[in-house]
Amino acid sequence: MKPEELYVHAKNALEHSYCPYSNFPVGCAILYKDGTVITGVNVENVSFGATNCAERTALFTGVTKGYQKEDVEMLVVAGKTDYFLPPCCLCRQVLVELCPADTPIYLSNNKGELKETILRDLVPLAFTEM
Ligand code: THU
Repeated sequence: MKPEELYVHAKNALEHSYCPYSNFPVGCAILYKDGTVITGVNVENVSFGATNCAERTALFTGVTKGYQKEDVEMLVVAGKTDYFLPPCCLCRQVLVELCPADTPIYLSNNKGELKETILRDLVPLAFTEM
């Protein structure tokens, strides 16, 4: 599957975003090596800190379904911004935990344009070991 096709999954997920406080919908789609696509959206809470970002929703669903780090092929983040929407730093740390360092992460804008990054470039000097 091409990133452009995976983007459509992330964009379509936007309609399920639960974001009554920020009005800032985010969708994420992960492609696994077996061809499965798992999506996630941001799910907000009146106690703002309880909000879950789209990326973590998708990643945690993948873990729940039995997928492991090595199974991840690529990931797309979608929103409605005119800039390329990047994952927040909390999600970046979770990405480091659950995806290989060479995973392509595609950021997108509201024109449907994609910008390819690599996880290791999004998180230089990552904290990976205790
Ligand atoms: N958000 C995400 O879902 N992913 C990100 O990486 C950036 C932020 C959500 C959290 C919150 O619901 C809204 O966007 C505004 O911060």
